[in-house]
Amino acid sequence: MTEIIVVGACNIDQIVYTPRLPDAGETVLGTDYQIGFGGKGANQCVAASKLGANVALISKVGDDDNGKRYIQNLKRCGVDTSNVLITDASCTGVAPITVANDGSNNIVVFSGANMLLSREDIDSAAGIMKSAKILLCQLEIDKFTTLHSLKAAKNAGVTTLLNIAPAIEDLSDEFFINSDIICLNETEASALTGIEVVDATTAVSAANQLLSKGTSNCIITLGKDGSVAAQENGEVYIVHGDKVDAKDTTGAGDAFIGAFAYFFCKLGSSNYMEAMKRANTVAGISVTKKGTQSSYPMRTDLPEALFEGIVN
Ligand code: RIB
Repeated sequence: MTEIIVVGACNIDQIVYTPRLPDAGETVLGTDYQIGFGGKGANQCVAASKLGANVALISKVGDDDNGKRYIQNLKRCGVDTSNVLITDASCTGVAPITVANDGSNNIVVFSGANMLLSREDIDSAAGIMKSAKILLCQLEIDKFTTLHSLKAAKNAGVTTLLNIAPAIEDLSDEFFINSDIICLNETEASALTGIEVVDATTAVSAANQLLSKGTSNCIITLGKDGSVAAQENGEVYIVHGDKVDAKDTTGAGDAFIGAFAYFFCKLGSSNYMEAMKRANTVAGISVTKKGTQSSYPMRTDLPEALFEGIVN
């Protein structure tokens, strides 16, 4: 039975490691290169699957070698791919990424086939909503397909989480009203609210501002400093980050969201802060390895204490 449904993008990540990120117009020489599987939607799906969740991805890839390899990868990771569609109208998404020695990155995405995932494709996949507990969306596909997915899940009684990434500044309130939870990082929260989010205090102010748009829960991730959450009932949670030696932060936010969805399903919605804490640990571990999905830990790599209270 599918517990977590993700509607989102598959990209081939082309990562170059450099001593530092280049300035505009500057060329820097790389020290290492890696091709891997990425895309925020697929990353979140794989992160949850590696922990042991039953997950399904609704996505679109090109009718090309990258698309074929991508579907094989998802199957290997235990993801239900029956709604990963193939189109010959565009190529599989690609993401050139630069990662500096301190683990920071910048990313450009060419969406390709991802943008062709349509509202009709979501309607055709509606059957899998029946058993799901949570639906995860991001903003790397057509935004109207995202909104349609959020509405369909809400109508089916499924909890909806929207990861506002990349940030779209004029996002209509409909996206917030149809999302039970929104999750975004400090950069995205700054862009959306005009508040410079630099720590837990400024993050809580930004989260409260975003709550006024109609969502019930707002989580802001703060990289090495952890995460904060504000809820419409006035509750505020602050989770401190674990000290880790960061090698590559690419996809750490996705590891957090995939893991949060897993713990949210397994521990129940009343254990919200516990789900955040445990997701923070998983994301912290992911940054200690290079790569995107390849850096996400399997349940067997993690301390059993992280799964306390989880029966299956
Ligand atoms: O969040 C990280 C992801 O953003 C990468 O995997 C890249 O593909 C882009 O979608």
